[in-house]
Amino acid sequence: MSLNVAVRHYWEKEPCGTSDFIVGRTPVRSRDWFANVEQHRYQEEPHIFTAAQFTRWAGKALLEIGVGAGCDHLQFARAGAICHGVDLTDAAIETTRQHLALHGHRSDLRRADAEDLPFSATSFDLVYSWGVIHHSAKPEQIIAEIHRVLRPGGSFVGMMYSRLSLVAAKLWVRRALLAGRPLRSLADVVWHHMESVGTKAYTSGELREMFGAFESAQITPVATAYDRKWLGPLARFVPDALGWNFMISAVKR
Ligand SMILES: C[S@@+](CC[C@H](N)C(=O)[O-])C[C@H]1O[C@@H](n2cnc3c(N)ncnc32)[C@H](O)[C@@H]1O
Repeated sequence: MSLNVAVRHYWEKEPCGTSDFIVGRTPVRSRDWFANVEQHRYQEEPHIFTAAQFTRWAGKALLEIGVGAGCDHLQFARAGAICHGVDLTDAAIETTRQHLALHGHRSDLRRADAEDLPFSATSFDLVYSWGVIHHSAKPEQIIAEIHRVLRPGGSFVGMMYSRLSLVAAKLWVRRALLAGRPLRSLADVVWHHMESVGTKAYTSGELREMFGAFESAQITPVATAYDRKWLGPLARFVPDALGWNFMISAVKR
């Protein structure tokens, strides 16, 4: 099985951020179900607003890669962006379609592999992708596709995982050290035990190289609720430098 078939299989079962502990007993894709998904998302990841700056994109052509349950896509639609979205799964496309419809919005949503985007060159002002690229078999190929579909001067905004982070370290303690396999690398435990198989996490230097074709790339680490989990009173001392998320913003020449 190719890696992206396995990735698709994993995310078809449940779009990101819609687990039972988040949605409770609310009927699937009901107004309350979506409200729970949205509330949990922005409580856990408030830095999404800092990165995405949704209201900046009114009237602009947006492509979101990996729409998931459609929370951020809805924010862009509300802000007046001209919305297009892709995801590897039917589950995410249908969930996002219903999420937007519930609030009276629409988008051009397509199931597609972002390693081969179904759009012509220089189509978009913004490509946005939160927590997606590192799941794919060929992240560099997605970044090349993002570069192709952006117009000159267009922006990429997104998030990718950081390897030298507390989330990765805690996963290593559990899956390597306590499992009696201390020689396993951080990359190996993230690949096998973080969400879909094949997940990757990077250093800022690696990301800078991957976005080398862009005019400028700002790569900013952010400590997340997932880094602070289980740290009790020490949680508030976690520095952003050890955070699980890299916010990325890059402009095409
Ligand atoms: C962790 S979820 C993130 C979803 C959403 N952006 C969010 O933040 O909730 C990863 C999503 O990326 C999608 N995905 C993974 N690889 C992809 C690819 N090659 N092309 C398009 N979508 C992909 C998955 O189907 C899944 O919906």
